[in-house]
Amino acid sequence: MMDKIKGVILAGGLGKRLYPLTAAMNKHLLNIYNKPMVYYPIQTLVDAGIREILLVTGGNNAGDFLRLLGIGKEFGLKHIEYTYQRGEGGIADALRLAEDFADGGKIVVILGDNIIEKPIKKYVQKFVKQKQGARLLIKKVPDPERFGVVEFGDSKILKITEKPKKPKTDYIVTGIYMYDAKVFDIIKTLKPSKRGELEITDVNNRYIKRCQLYYDILPGFWTDSGTFDSLLRANNLVARRMARQ
Ligand code: G1P
Repeated sequence: MMDKIKGVILAGGLGKRLYPLTAAMNKHLLNIYNKPMVYYPIQTLVDAGIREILLVTGGNNAGDFLRLLGIGKEFGLKHIEYTYQRGEGGIADALRLAEDFADGGKIVVILGDNIIEKPIKKYVQKFVKQKQGARLLIKKVPDPERFGVVEFGDSKILKITEKPKKPKTDYIVTGIYMYDAKVFDIIKTLKPSKRGELEITDVNNRYIKRCQLYYDILPGFWTDSGTFDSLLRANNLVARRMARQ
């Protein structure tokens, strides 16, 4: 059953918020404790039972991914697929490149800078059973204004607002998204946001309109690692987890 679902890692962008760390190095190859950043989302997908993975990269030094990851042997994979996002069109723009790879099936998407503690297999299995639509993993955080913020009603998600100045809740959408193949039709109808990107939050709001958006609350720690503070935090969280093991 699980081999039917495919995984997409989004590791594009220029990592401008981390300049000059990213001047000569792709953000997703920076270290998180003892491994390159991109190892963590790959491991998250592999631990969820996903064997077919597409890595969307972009920006500078894209060839470094191939040199580092090859066919994914280190993760017990037989091959990894790669594609390249030109420019900085945003998460939904990067995801567009996965349409042929998805081949009409369901996908689990993870942002290349998202570091988590606990397995997501349970939630992926729920999504496999889900007839159609999308499924998000959300999390309560102390700094919701940095993310896509969730508003609830009747225990459903009513609305998601991207980086609101005054967040209505402390719950945010993590960079782990599960979609049916409709996602690609939705992306084609999107218009760029104020920051000039195709926003994944707009995609998720479309699924809300269709009454096809489901969610789970992700346990354990979660962090992105695209700013100096969150990069440091990711390093510390992983280091502490390693020390506990
Ligand atoms: C993106 C999404 C945001 C989400 C976050 C998770 O933000 O736009 O909704 O909460 O990833 O990491 P960005 O990293 O593009 O600022």
